[in-house]
Amino acid sequence: MSENQFIVNIAGVTRSYRIGDSRLEVLRGIDWQVRRGSWSCLLGASGSGKTTLLNLIGALEKPDSGLLEVAGVDLGKLSRRAAAEFRNRKLGFVFQAYHLLPELTILENVMLPARLAGGGKADIRLRAEALLVTVGLAERLRHRPTELSGGEQQRAAIARALINGPELLLADEPTGNLDARSGQGILDLFTALRESHPTRSIVMITHNREIAQLADQVAELADGRLTVQE
Ligand SMILES: Nc1ncnc2c1ncn2[C@@H]1O[C@H](COP(=O)(O)OP(=O)(O)O)[C@@H](O)[C@H]1O
Ligand SMILES: [Mg+2]
Repeated sequence: MSENQFIVNIAGVTRSYRIGDSRLEVLRGIDWQVRRGSWSCLLGASGSGKTTLLNLIGALEKPDSGLLEVAGVDLGKLSRRAAAEFRNRKLGFVFQAYHLLPELTILENVMLPARLAGGGKADIRLRAEALLVTVGLAERLRHRPTELSGGEQQRAAIARALINGPELLLADEPTGNLDARSGQGILDLFTALRESHPTRSIVMITHNREIAQLADQVAELADGRLTVQE
């Protein structure tokens, strides 16, 4: 069953945007299968539709047509509310610009998705603290995001993405805003997380072919189509 073997199972997915009177066909028929526990990189020129495809996998948008199964769930059939719950329970998101909430401390940011999912505050706090130790931010729990470097903010965002034990981590150019050294630290962190959690899958957008070499599978978008290399 694809449900067990593949964390992502996409067949014939299309997505276009309406711009005035015309349509921009961004994804023209995508087929993609991502194995559970694997690390996939998604490459492609700027504007080729990488974020659009990741947003579909992340249940943030819906395809115009085609099959889109993630973690065994047919995303095309989910209501908005079910999609939000699916994201919270099954997925972790890491963005180029971190997207931490500025009014919350680092610890509160990491706790937030778990608070939304429900559960005891004391237990969630312990889990968040442990994750922040894992990502190297033990000394930054009470700081606000703006008091941290970009690399530190991204570490906090990764801890937040992990707090609900996601099956799939989706990262959209997670090193795109960082200098080479901080970016390398983030990649080392992804590598370590992968070793400590071999069943969790990663799909990462990147512009960088060196980063893509870390992956088990490289998928490249061009002209609305995807080419996959194992
Ligand atoms: N909400 C939207 N409305 C209209 N056009 C969009 C929208 N989102 C993205 N696009 C367009 O779709 C194309 C692909 O965008 P995107 O998926 O962000 O590409 P990438 O992440 O590869 O740079 C771009 O031409 C972009 O301008
Ligand atoms: Mg993008």
